[in-house]
Amino acid sequence: MAEVSTGSATGTGSTGERDRIVAPSADEIERAAEAALRPKRLDDFVGQRVVRDQLSLVLQAAIARGNPPDHVLLSGPPGLGKTTLAMIISGELESHMRLTSGPAIQHAGDLAAVLSSLEEGDVLFIDEIHRLARPAEELLYVAMEDFRVDVIVGKGAGASAIPLALPRFTVVGATTRSGLLPAPLRDRFGFTGHMDYYSPEELERVILRSSGLLGVHLEHAAAHEIAGRSRGTPRIANRLLRRVRDWAQVRGDGRLDLHAARSALEVYEVDPIGLDRLDRAVLTALCTRFGGGPVGLSTLAMTVGEEAETVETVAEPYLVREGLIGRTPRGRVATPAAWEHLGLTPPPPAPGSATWTPGPGPGSGTLLEP
Ligand SMILES: Nc1ncnc2c1ncn2[C@@H]1O[C@H](COP(=O)(O)OP(=O)(O)OP(=O)(O)O)[C@@H](O)[C@H]1O
Ligand SMILES: [Mg+2]
Repeated sequence: MAEVSTGSATGTGSTGERDRIVAPSADEIERAAEAALRPKRLDDFVGQRVVRDQLSLVLQAAIARGNPPDHVLLSGPPGLGKTTLAMIISGELESHMRLTSGPAIQHAGDLAAVLSSLEEGDVLFIDEIHRLARPAEELLYVAMEDFRVDVIVGKGAGASAIPLALPRFTVVGATTRSGLLPAPLRDRFGFTGHMDYYSPEELERVILRSSGLLGVHLEHAAAHEIAGRSRGTPRIANRLLRRVRDWAQVRGDGRLDLHAARSALEVYEVDPIGLDRLDRAVLTALCTRFGGGPVGLSTLAMTVGEEAETVETVAEPYLVREGLIGRTPRGRVATPAAWEHLGLTPPPPAPGSATWTPGPGPGSGTLLEP
């Protein structure tokens, strides 16, 4: 059987989400452009030191033993390198990779067809594995544990299951929502790698590497500037790099220097910490129209002319992650960092009003009632 395509893109939210230059997800066209920038070996994979170290051990041990490694689960937000790492695994093992995805498998039979076409040592990559249909999931448990698939022959009362032995293979599952994976499925992965957001220094290395592959010279100061605006996400960093390259070519002198980086990102309205127009509109409304809150989500959304869902799923996660907005039972509040970022002075707390005390983690804190 031919490779099954991955189907729809991961994590593509509303239309507003897909159109954003700082969207963590990518459409098919962008995914094609990304393919050229994917590191092929573990040594070229920037950052994620812990996952890389652990995975390297798993792979080296398997290679030394001459056996396929344990099944691997990669979890983390979109654009952090799960697909890239899956391909690296198959590359390091010098094995054939089969590609499918949760949404592409609607029936157990679809999965049975994929499984029965596997050969010894193959890597079966299942993207968005949390979206597998239930019956397929159950088939997968058995296949992963016992390397067997039960083929159902006949219908109704006369139906019987004929066990079909499978060669030893390795499932690499990727998910942006590991919490949605049923425990029995999660337990069948011998190794789970949790991908985390990248530091600006790591992103700098990602785009310096990418610029080499794109055949352009990126100055260090420009790399630093782009990295700082990329929201911890290599996909966004690579995207911003391409926009800076466009600017340098069309409006600049061809050099990818600090001036080009700043000018391009100004055109695309990505501010120094990676906020875009919508993020800033939300933050500004919260501070200037509602005195920093608390204000209800729907009121806030109406003020910026967006659906509540768009504000909640598209703008808020990063604002909360950056510690600019707090979510409280009484609504959204601006943190001191939000006022500072907008260059505004927070009003003195009105007598009897609640105050926001930032906590230790990003977006954490307490709303103190008077
Ligand atoms: N550690 C890394 N080093 C270099 N480039 C990276 C790294 N991680 C990701 N990239 C680049 O970022 C882009 C997106 O990565 P990838 O497609 O693997 O993300 P993903 O986690 O699978 O996202 P999604 O959840 O949307 O499927 C690719 O172009 C890839 O080359
Ligand atoms: Mg992916």
